[in-house]
Amino acid sequence: MKIAVLGTGFAGRTLADGLAGLGHEVAIGTRDVAATLKRTEPDRMGNAGYGVWAEGHPHIQLARFADAAAGADLLVNATSGAGSISALTDAGAANLAGRVLLDVANPLDFSQGFPPNLFVKDSDSLAEQIQRAFPDARVVKALNTMVGDVMTVPKSVSDGDHTVFVSGDDAEAKHVVTDLLSSFGWTDIIDLGGIGTARATEMMVKIRLLVMTSLGTPISNFKIAR
Ligand SMILES: NC(=O)c1ccc[n+]([C@@H]2O[C@H](COP(=O)([O-])OP(=O)(O)OC[C@H]3O[C@@H](n4cnc5c(N)ncnc54)[C@H](OP(=O)(O)O)[C@@H]3O)[C@@H](O)[C@H]2O)c1
Repeated sequence: MKIAVLGTGFAGRTLADGLAGLGHEVAIGTRDVAATLKRTEPDRMGNAGYGVWAEGHPHIQLARFADAAAGADLLVNATSGAGSISALTDAGAANLAGRVLLDVANPLDFSQGFPPNLFVKDSDSLAEQIQRAFPDARVVKALNTMVGDVMTVPKSVSDGDHTVFVSGDDAEAKHVVTDLLSSFGWTDIIDLGGIGTARATEMMVKIRLLVMTSLGTPISNFKIAR
């Protein structure tokens, strides 16, 4: 598939790398290509600047959001929650129409420091806001409940099988995303139902970040034991 990963942060890069590794044609979307390539300093989490990362990944093209999105079979929203509607607007509603949009973003608000609060929760979600803003896109929420490393390599968590959740109103779009998840090696994939169920998985980020701090590593995940 031709896939546009919108987002140049750790999640976007990791997903782009993982998807390219599966043989997909991947472009990463950003606001300003030149400015993004000029980033060489590590970010606040210690991840390499995009320019440094790009040197090691010459097969992954960087383009403006709209150019990356044009003609993509599937899009991934890996932009900051607060910037997601703006980024997707830049990507272009016409480029999203009829396309599967895998949304991994969380509605984080860092204005009060760490751990962040959520700027939407419980009675609405970022995924629903995106679906309402782009009604012709086929939004599927998944992979937002774990760190980027685990998204594409579930075996990074060595402690057996663990769980990824899927939410969305379009059954066929969820099928496409579930197939992608399976190709990354996910086996415990739970379909929670419509896009409104993303309220619950977005709220899981609060406990995930507390667990990360407590364990001293982001490499962990939720497991639904039966
Ligand atoms: N990091 C993880 O392991 C992880 C795990 C689970 C979920 N997530 C979610 O995935 C998303 C990406 O996370 P991240 O850590 O990779 O990076 P991030 O720093 O949260 O987001 C970086 C991306 O957001 C874009 N962006 C920021 N503000 C924008 C605005 N006002 N308008 C348009 N675009 C804007 C940036 O565009 P430019 O490229 O132009 O700078 C960049 O592409 C977030 O929603 C996060 O909550 C991340």
